[in-house]
Amino acid sequence: MSTYVVVGLQYGDEGKGKITDVLSAKSDYVVRFQGGDNAGHTVYVGDNKFVLQLLPSGVLQCRGKCFLANGVVVNPKSFLKEIQQIEDKGMKTDHVFISRRAHVIMPYHILLDTYREEEQGGTQIGTTKKGIGPCYEDKISRVGIRMVDLLNPEILREKIEKNLKLKNALFSKYFDKPEMDVEEIYNEFLELGEKLKDRIVDTELEINEAIKEGKNILFEGAQALMLDIDFGTYPYVTSSSPSTGGVCTGAGVPPTSLQNLIGVAKAYCTRVGNGPFPTELDDELGENIRKIGGEFGAVTGRPRRTGWLDLVSLKHACMINGINNLVITKLDVMTGLGKLKIATHYRTEDGKIIDYFTSSTTKLYNYEPIYEELEGWDEDITTVRSYDELPATAKKYIEFIEKYLGINVYLVSVGPERSQNIIRKELF
Ligand code: GDP
Ligand code: IMO
Ligand code: MG
Repeated sequence: MSTYVVVGLQYGDEGKGKITDVLSAKSDYVVRFQGGDNAGHTVYVGDNKFVLQLLPSGVLQCRGKCFLANGVVVNPKSFLKEIQQIEDKGMKTDHVFISRRAHVIMPYHILLDTYREEEQGGTQIGTTKKGIGPCYEDKISRVGIRMVDLLNPEILREKIEKNLKLKNALFSKYFDKPEMDVEEIYNEFLELGEKLKDRIVDTELEINEAIKEGKNILFEGAQALMLDIDFGTYPYVTSSSPSTGGVCTGAGVPPTSLQNLIGVAKAYCTRVGNGPFPTELDDELGENIRKIGGEFGAVTGRPRRTGWLDLVSLKHACMINGINNLVITKLDVMTGLGKLKIATHYRTEDGKIIDYFTSSTTKLYNYEPIYEELEGWDEDITTVRSYDELPATAKKYIEFIEKYLGINVYLVSVGPERSQNIIRKELF
């Protein structure tokens, strides 16, 4: 009985949802600790496809409870919509709860996100326009509305009034857009609070109690380290800490309670939205990988940029997260691609060869990846379930990653379905 953290090591969409779903079967709790409905986690159960944005991917088969902890930003309308979708498929959702401390994404956050992106033209971040950034800004500015506020009419009205004063000035005077109505938002969110009241709890109390009792607790990350507000490619990042460190503040648990730190990476690399991507393949091969891998955003439908695996950034991500177990997903997508490349170093503008990730995002655009070339394979690996049955070249590919990072790959995913895994070591 232990704690497990699943985080993304690249630019998101590594397949965290699928891995969480697999691990949640043995979990007593599955806890989201950051992000909001900017996430898109696709899980296949047989031919049934589920896209989870706000709910933990554990909702499908966790035997215990699913929490959106304090570090998550919650759009109550998205929450209820997702709950409905799950219930429509005949599943129960009475095990899903939200922290009283979690911040609420308000309609003005979504508009602000949208207007800002529109205004920036070609230099926009390429956000999901879900209001994530503006909601976290209000949290840090100490004017945010928390889930618990939805249950207190007086405080709710007061906070909406205070927030709209400034936001409406910004909308009308700066963006030349219509102002928002206090009364309308107040009534809508009071009603949402009423609908959600039985699900709003002190998640941190129960999680800590569960840790003491030795239950299995799985913390599910959204986004990924390269989109981390501190350690990603700032400013082309999200507004939270999708790292293992984010679990402590985002769920209210001590660092000493975190044990199995599971990092998920694709066998190649993708990015959606703007920002540097050193190993990007802006060519036919990149297009091919996009097609084979089905690389289109689960939330926005945007085509994902594709490229070779980048061990320089992966090493950075493993270091910050303290990863002690790696998962490599989508190895099947590499089948039949011919020779495979893996970036091990970067060549800087002035010809220096480095193997660490830079804090200078602008410089990164001019860094040239230095690749190691490995033999590929043509065999279908989607039905392989034991590591020994993989083609020798596929094993070499995995072992190259392990050796470079000094971390064991404990699970190799070879298809989107729940059962398409090669598990080398049982963690539970
Ligand atoms: P997440 O955001 O990290 O949960 O990842 P997404 O769900 O956004 O994107 C991963 C996509 O790859 C989803 O469509 C998954 O169904 C799919 N997927 C996950 N693992 C594998 C795998 O091993 N092979 C293949 N072909 N697809 C996978
Ligand atoms: P999952 O959990 C991939 C990207 C956006 C944009 C940047 C900021 O499915 O891996 P935001 O709306 O968060 O302010 O956007 O982050 N982004 C993601 N990219 N997967 C995600 O989540 C993402 N969530 C945000 O495209 O570049
Ligand atoms: Mg995703």
